[in-house]
This record gives sequence, C-alpha cells and structure tokens, in this order.
Amino acid sequence: MRDVAVIGVGMTKFGELWDKSFRQLIAEAGAKAILDSGIEGKEIDAMYVGSMSSGRFVGQEHVGALVADASGFSNAHIPATRIESACASGGLAIRQGYLSIASGINDIVVVGGMEKMNDVVGASATETLATAADQEWEAFFGATFPGLYAMIATKHMHDYGTTKEQLAQVAVKNHVNGSLNPYAQYQREVTVEQVIKASMVAYPLGLLDCSPVTDGSAAVVLCSADKAKDYKDKPVKFIGSGQASDSLALHARREICTLDATIHASKMAYKQANLTPKEIDLAEVHDCFTIAEICAIEDLGFVKKGEGGKAIDNKITTLDGSLPINTSGGLKAKGHPVGATGVAQLVEVTLQLRGEADKRQVKNAQIGLAHNVGGSGASCTVNILEAM
Ligand code: COA
Repeated sequence: MRDVAVIGVGMTKFGELWDKSFRQLIAEAGAKAILDSGIEGKEIDAMYVGSMSSGRFVGQEHVGALVADASGFSNAHIPATRIESACASGGLAIRQGYLSIASGINDIVVVGGMEKMNDVVGASATETLATAADQEWEAFFGATFPGLYAMIATKHMHDYGTTKEQLAQVAVKNHVNGSLNPYAQYQREVTVEQVIKASMVAYPLGLLDCSPVTDGSAAVVLCSADKAKDYKDKPVKFIGSGQASDSLALHARREICTLDATIHASKMAYKQANLTPKEIDLAEVHDCFTIAEICAIEDLGFVKKGEGGKAIDNKITTLDGSLPINTSGGLKAKGHPVGATGVAQLVEVTLQLRGEADKRQVKNAQIGLAHNVGGSGASCTVNILEAM
C-alpha cells in the first residue's frame, strides 16, 4: 500500500442552481480542483464520480463517461467510473480513488461528486431519495428519510433524554458555520426558537432540522503521497480510510439509534491511522438531519453513547469548541446534493488542514475526519486526513 495525498480541491456553490446544467456543475468543480492541484490534464490516470440518482433527477445516466466528456477528456479515453451508494456515493468514490492509488494501479486520480436535485418538484425529490430505503419494507409503506430519521430521533429522546432544543442547537451551530462559508446554500443564521417553531416535517423534525434539497458538485485531485509536494506546497495525506455496510431497513438493525456502519467504518479508519477519536481536531459528519449529527458524534467515539445532546449543550462542537463539527455548515446549511456531499466534506477538511478555511478556520488543525452515510445508515465511509 502506498500513501495517498489530496493535492487539489474545488467545488461549485451549493444551492438552487437553475442557470447551470448537470454537466456544467461537474466541469466547474473538476476544473477548479485541477487548477488548484497544478497538474496537467494529460497526467490524470482515472476519474471516479459519485452520483446517487442522476437518472431520476435529470434523466441522465452513463455519468462516468459524461464526466470525462464534459471535462474535455473524451479524446484522452481516461477510465471514468460512476459510484452509487445513495448519500454516501461521494465518500465511496473518494475511497475508490484512494484505493486505486494506494494499490499502485494509478498515480493521479480526479474524484468528483454531483447531484442536481431541484429540476424535479419537491415530492418527486423525496420519492427519489426514498429509493435508497428498503423498497419492500419501508418505501412501499410510505416511509421517507425524514420519517425514518424521525423514528431514530424519538427513540434517542426516549432512551437518552435528548431534547428538541438540543436538536435545534445542532441546526443553529451549523447555520452559524454556513454563514461563514461562501459556497453554502444557506448563509444565514437561525435561532433555537425558529428551529423549534418551523413547520413540522416528521415529528420531532421540523423544516430547520432537515438538510435541504440541493444542486452542486465538488471534486478533489488525489496523488501518491511521495509525489504530492512536486505539485502542492501544503498537501494533506490520508492516514486512515474505512467503509462498512448494514441492513437497508432500519427495523432490522441491532439498535436503531446506533449506526453500526459508522462504528465499523470508523474503527477501520482509526486502526489504520493508529489513533483514537480524541486525537481528531475537527470533523465533517453526515448531518442530513439534526439527530444524525448527534448519533454521528456518538458512534464515531467522540462522546459516549447518549451524550451527544449534552455535548451540544456544552458547546464542544462549535467552531471554537474542543472538537469543531461541520465547520462548513454541514449538510444542514451548506446543503446536501447527495452524490456530491462526501466529496465536499473532503474539500472542507482539506481546506482546514491547509489553513485556508478563512473565517471558519480552526486553529492548529492537523488531523481531520470526514464521515459520509448512505440512507438511514446502510452504508458509511470514514476518511482521516493529516496535514503533511
Ligand atoms: N433548511 C433551511 N431552510 C430550508 C430548508 C432547509 N432544509 N428547506 C427549505 N428551506 C427554505 C427555502 O429556502 C424556502 O425559503 P424562502 O421561502 O425564503 O425561499 C422555504 O424554506 C420553503 O422552501 P421549500 O423548498 O418550499 O421547502 P419544502 O417544504 O419543499 O422542503 C423539506 C423542505 C425539509 C421537506 C426538504 O428540504 C427536504 O425534503 N429535506 C430533506 C432532504 C432529504 O431527505 N435528504 C436525504 C437525507 S438522507
């Protein structure tokens, strides 16, 4: 296994991007990442792209080849592969790019992720997202992701005394961070009262407990670590990477408010990195709903099971807390274009470790973690990066 580094990052603004097409989004993010890395196009060995449901959202499949084509590489005949794992498609694409370099097959790889979700009406977007749930046991009976995460939230409240105010504080924090991120869909702050009084989506989750429906794309350039400094003064290096899966249906899990896929993927990554959760300086975690961030910080081992709500009360996860979480604004405020999310998380961790996160910069950040979840927890990737 070779060490692998991130030498370039780029993303589009996230939001409702009516004036940009699907192919323009990925071309923009990819071009920014390639420019940032300093590589030449002819040096790219392969491309991997995460996209959950481009066929239903924009009517376009065959996305691997499309990405190479839209980026101007059709004549270079670069191997281009699309990866799908619901909302973890981006994280899995990163891991495939990482593995291909670590194994020695490729030297330089571009990994992208994208989704354009607003070209369909809201109900259709909800139905498309629900294709990632178990069709026979969940979607057939009307379950949607807000509904499934609402069940996780009510169980968490019942078992651990987590409150609606604590859930709301997650949204408040992530909107503060989003207000400092020029690429975020929502660059505005919200109050606890606004979150609690927002229209109910699925009890206890209101509109402001949910990540939005988002268009956007993100890309990174990966390279074998021994060559990274030839391209970039401040590359960052993968020190651990993990992936795990679980039952698609929530009811089939050992325990519904523990995401075992997160536990297994993070253990794999911590073991490879030879470190404990205490040594992580910041993390981008999969907060598709406010309860998801609380479960994530518990299952990643940052706090004990059941103490996620208390950690929010104690301000541990704010920008100036002891473990800043979702400095980008997270899925909640930065937005959640499902196939792009896992890649955008890596963009934020890289910017933080390079000291280039501007107003949301975490002081002395050396080690960062990115955690991407598919569905209600059936797939998960965890990547740990360190400044070189
Ligand atoms: N957070 C903050 N503001 C939001 C928002 C969100 N999640 N969703 C919508 N808004 C804002 C819009 O910008 C709009 O504001 P404006 O009136 O100032 O323009 C307003 O709320 C209404 O927006 P609209 O698009 O009509 O909302 P909606 O009711 O159609 O959709 C949700 C709201 C929460 C149902 C939708 O965002 C949703 O389904 N989210 C979950 C997505 C999901 O399941 N992802 C997969 C996770 S596993």
